[in-house]
Amino acid sequence: MDKLRIVGGKPLHGTIRIAGAKNAALPLMAACLLSERPVRLRNLPYLADIVTMGKLLRQHGVTFHMHDAGERGREITLHAEKIDNLTAPYDIVRTMRASVLVLGPLLARFGKARVSLPGGCAIGTRPVDLHLKALEAMGAEIDVKEGYLDAKAPQGLKGGDFTFPQVSVGATENALMAAVLADGTTRLSNAAREPEIRDLAHLLQAMGAQIEGIDTSELIIHGVTQLHAATHDVLPDRIEAGSYLAIAAMTGGELTLEHCQPDDMRATLAALEQTGLHTQIDGTTIRTLPRTAPLQPVHITTEPHPGFPTDMQAQLMAVLCCANGTSQLTETIFENRYMHVPELARMGADITVKGQMASITGVEKLTGAEVMATDLRASLSLVIAALVAEGETIINRVYHLDRGYERLEDKLKLCGADIERMH
Ligand code: EPZ
Repeated sequence: MDKLRIVGGKPLHGTIRIAGAKNAALPLMAACLLSERPVRLRNLPYLADIVTMGKLLRQHGVTFHMHDAGERGREITLHAEKIDNLTAPYDIVRTMRASVLVLGPLLARFGKARVSLPGGCAIGTRPVDLHLKALEAMGAEIDVKEGYLDAKAPQGLKGGDFTFPQVSVGATENALMAAVLADGTTRLSNAAREPEIRDLAHLLQAMGAQIEGIDTSELIIHGVTQLHAATHDVLPDRIEAGSYLAIAAMTGGELTLEHCQPDDMRATLAALEQTGLHTQIDGTTIRTLPRTAPLQPVHITTEPHPGFPTDMQAQLMAVLCCANGTSQLTETIFENRYMHVPELARMGADITVKGQMASITGVEKLTGAEVMATDLRASLSLVIAALVAEGETIINRVYHLDRGYERLEDKLKLCGADIERMH
């Protein structure tokens, strides 16, 4: 299993091109199942989760055509003309929860689907009950048999109204994709407003779907009978960009992040600026300026978009380990998203967790240690700490990192970091 070896203390300077968003690319790829016409995606990131989604779609019968990567990043055409298998198997679904996003499209186009339950993951049980309730509101009949969701809509899905009892990104995406082919109008209330859902809605519109209320919590979808071919650019990854901003805040480095969408990052930018990070925004480029004062403590609560994203909580916590005072972070989205705390503590961080709240008291310095990545964003918090820790840090189980960060060590090495991957 690969490890990362990092020696802290090097100042960072350089330019990083932000990749397409993992959490947009996954539903965008699943959406190809809705049409027998080809869907061309550009600016696809090169990540383990994208490969997994490709494997899942291939076993359904989707064919892929890789184009030469141009200045619009990697381009792939997905063609779901001949779908000969409606089952998403446990051996793939258990490795990536987002596999459940094939449920809505398969049900909408073919009237049935058999999708393995995803099982839990490190950051919580993460059930799919909201996905099922939303699809049942459109007439789906879904039973759980031998660990699989057996979904049917023999007469096709019918437009219906559904209010999400709590915000769910994935359930909103599954319901949105199902509704575009339902007979009639569907109204989704308390829908998630993450930018990745806007991106999915834009692809679906390009394919011929009729969707109103994009970027709001009230989505209205008028079903159509079929969708056509489309080409779509995956939106920039706001979490990758936020993660590099956290690295700049922690190290005081001067990073230029290209190909960002700053408007999708307002809460992240505001939180990091409270710690003392100064940035200059020019269109899709964010430049960080050298830090002139010690890091400042902050009190932040994670919330659905446009609030401070849960996917940035671990990264911000790492930065606060060296702030000049005590910070408080409250995690409201997942019940167990503090797995990085004991690992940061091994590096000398002073963090106490009580329920959903973590108190972080800044320390003079962190020291390098051997640590273990426990989940995707936790692994990045360890990288952030290691980049300023005294001495050498070895991060184990780096496969977590590879799920969501494209060539992280290459991008950081080009900015002057002392980092290498060990096989
Ligand atoms: C998406 O996960 C993201 N993944 C997550 O990013 C992100 O943390 C999360 O949204 C919140 O923003 C992808 O987009 C592939 P949810 P998702 O449904 O859709 C509970 C990363 O690091 N819930 O919004 O699974 C759930 O347990 C990953 O890139 C139910 O109870 O998140 C959680 O506590 C991690 N029942 C809360 O809702 C359901 O049916 C939010 O989950 C669905 C969810």
